[in-house]
Amino acid sequence: MLSQDLPPDHIHHAAALLRAGRLVAFPTETVYGLGGAATNDTAVARIFEAKGRPSFNPLIVHLPDRDSAERIAVFDARARRLAEAFWPGPLTLVLPRREDAGLSRLVSAGLPSVAIRVPAHPLAQALLRAAGVPVAAPSANRSGGISPTRADHVAASLGDRVDMILDGGACAVGLESTVVDLTGPRAVLLRPGGVTPAQLAEVLGEPVVVGTDDPAAPKSPGQLLSHYAPDRPVRLNAAGAEPGEALLGFGPAPGATLNLSDGGDLVEAAANLFAFLHALDRAPFTGIAVMPIPEEGLGLAINDRLRRAAAPRG
Ligand code: TXA
Ligand code: MG
Repeated sequence: MLSQDLPPDHIHHAAALLRAGRLVAFPTETVYGLGGAATNDTAVARIFEAKGRPSFNPLIVHLPDRDSAERIAVFDARARRLAEAFWPGPLTLVLPRREDAGLSRLVSAGLPSVAIRVPAHPLAQALLRAAGVPVAAPSANRSGGISPTRADHVAASLGDRVDMILDGGACAVGLESTVVDLTGPRAVLLRPGGVTPAQLAEVLGEPVVVGTDDPAAPKSPGQLLSHYAPDRPVRLNAAGAEPGEALLGFGPAPGATLNLSDGGDLVEAAANLFAFLHALDRAPFTGIAVMPIPEEGLGLAINDRLRRAAAPRG
């Protein structure tokens, strides 16, 4: 735990940890975030492991300014107007992700979009600039816990599950950022927060649709969960591949096409999951057979995602 007057070398140490794939909790004006490099699948898997969530939900990627945000997401005129009006600040924009941005697939749970935000807190700004990588950061608490608005909340909830905690005092807003989805023709409010629908509507020149922050819920009629499942059928708890199928292994698996983790490591498996599903979802394979994954720790989130991928398509 560090004092509130952070010497620059503390920032540089935190930035080096992030670049090395470690986790750093840091203050933003909304709540403390549990940060990891958004370009590093293992760092993102560690975030999910530390939070102890039983499922993968897409995370917000933090950047120091709009220019760096434009390198990872595609901005349209609406996005630029909102960014102009509310960044840096408590607004998150969901935008199409750039395929060449080098972002982890796990960070947006396999979706073709990415949620991005430019926080205003001076320590967050200093850290993001020093890190030089986009930083994925959900609120820095264990799943189901209360959102942390002070460094000691983070220490109490995550303790030694985080490599460093930057103490920036109490968060001014104390409530997570407003999340607006701009991937469709209408702006959709996915999560209410400090920036209100009326403020958004004024800048956009049209009302925002009030939606849901459950990425599994239909965003508009016809847009279902299966839209981001693999195209090929997924078969779970497979002992081996049927003719034509790819075999996605876990642990010792001699015939596997790809192996989530030869050594049976769940963090490694989570880090590989979305990239490997994507890689196997192509000809000549007719389907993807997945070997059993233990229902414990990160295995809960991996199995949750695999069950969704294997669910009958509507
Ligand atoms: O105030 C905040 O936003 C805090 C601080 C640390 O910045 N961060 C935060 O992050 O609350 P997180 O990861 O817990 O919030 C993620 C929210 C969820 O509501 C999630 O469903 C939504 O953003 N989200 C993220 N990526 C999305 C995507 N690609 N499509 C739709 N919703 C997305
Ligand atoms: Mg949270």
